[in-house]
Amino acid sequence: MQSRRTALKAILFAGVTGPVLVVNFPAAAQAATSLKEAYKGDFLIGAAINEAQITGKDARGDAIVEAQFNSISPENALKWEHVHPLPGKYDFVIPDQYVAFGEKNGMFIVGHTLVWHNQVPDWVFHDDKGDLLARDALLARMRDHIHTVVGRYKGRIQSWDVVNEALNEDGSLRQSLWYKIIGEDYIAKAFEYAHEADPQVQLTYNDYSLENAAKRNGAIALVTKLQAEGVPIMSVGLQGHDGLDWPTVEQQDATIAAFAKLGVKVVISELDIDVLPKATKEQTADVTLNIAQNPALNPYPNGLPDSVQQQLAKRYADLFGVFLKHRDAVTRVTFWGVTDADSWRNDWPVKGRTAYPLLFDRAGQPKPAYEAVIKVASR
Ligand code: G3I
Repeated sequence: MQSRRTALKAILFAGVTGPVLVVNFPAAAQAATSLKEAYKGDFLIGAAINEAQITGKDARGDAIVEAQFNSISPENALKWEHVHPLPGKYDFVIPDQYVAFGEKNGMFIVGHTLVWHNQVPDWVFHDDKGDLLARDALLARMRDHIHTVVGRYKGRIQSWDVVNEALNEDGSLRQSLWYKIIGEDYIAKAFEYAHEADPQVQLTYNDYSLENAAKRNGAIALVTKLQAEGVPIMSVGLQGHDGLDWPTVEQQDATIAAFAKLGVKVVISELDIDVLPKATKEQTADVTLNIAQNPALNPYPNGLPDSVQQQLAKRYADLFGVFLKHRDAVTRVTFWGVTDADSWRNDWPVKGRTAYPLLFDRAGQPKPAYEAVIKVASR
């Protein structure tokens, strides 16, 4: 481990021409001023940002992003329905501001996401008569989209989530319209098109619940097949929509190790930890779920009890311990949102709950979980 973990060198100048005193403080006294500083040399620390943050309307959120993070992901701005709402009509107003925000702050800029079964308009899969497209026509549409969007930000966006959530929970390929119309090589084609559009950009396969063995095995088989075919896949994104008891530390550890063994980098791409009662049996991040409201599912409308706050902090510390152990494979840990007020968890899978999944509270203040994450880095 780096020496900064064991001692802090504080250089105190006794005057411009006076002696220089170097003091070593014990690790416990080390107080990193930000997440990005704490994990410098280990991995990037990112946040997904929303439209208010991209456009500068959320000045408080932007200040947190600028102070704490060295990577950004667009929570929604680069999804197909936003950037390419109608045939031949691209809308780059918000995406351009997103990329400019990252460049202004010298950040590692992520593109999310090119090929997904959600937030993609129906017209993409249909012809003028409303019939499903044939394979070649859909491939042509996919290629146009990828070339236009990736090409526009060539050399400015550093990493793209090329294909998102292509797997079922049992590890088989999801029967999306991409799959049904093109066939299973739609995934390889998406990566090839992205690579053509920007040969330097990092290309990622991104999915949730890969910590569960069956789905993980499906992803391992997919990555292995793509590699054997020479498809330019460089990293796997473990979304990390976690709970207090899932995934276990062992599952997280084994999952990162399994992908690292394949020679791809690992990204924790959408991290948040849910403390609310589970509203579904399955461990999922399926955005189409909408479960009825019920006060029992929203137990902390007025604030998080300290005991749960401490549980959340310990849970974050445990997971960051695993990420740090795999610092050679893990290149980035991105939180899915900035403060608890921003989180998609407030409206999923039950609308209108008060969720507490992130490191900053509704007032923009760091939570005990923030301190816990910083502390892991200073071990
Ligand atoms: O913009 C409209 C707004 O005008 C309207 O008033 C409001 C009413 O509900 O809806 C707003 O749109 C919402 C949008 O987020 C922006 O907040 C959509 O309803 C809502 O469905 C959409 O949810 C997003 C979700 O993806 C949809 O697929 C979440 O913000 C976003 O965090 C979430 O992100 C996904 C990743 O892309 C992939 N992995 C899972 C992750 C979490 O679901």
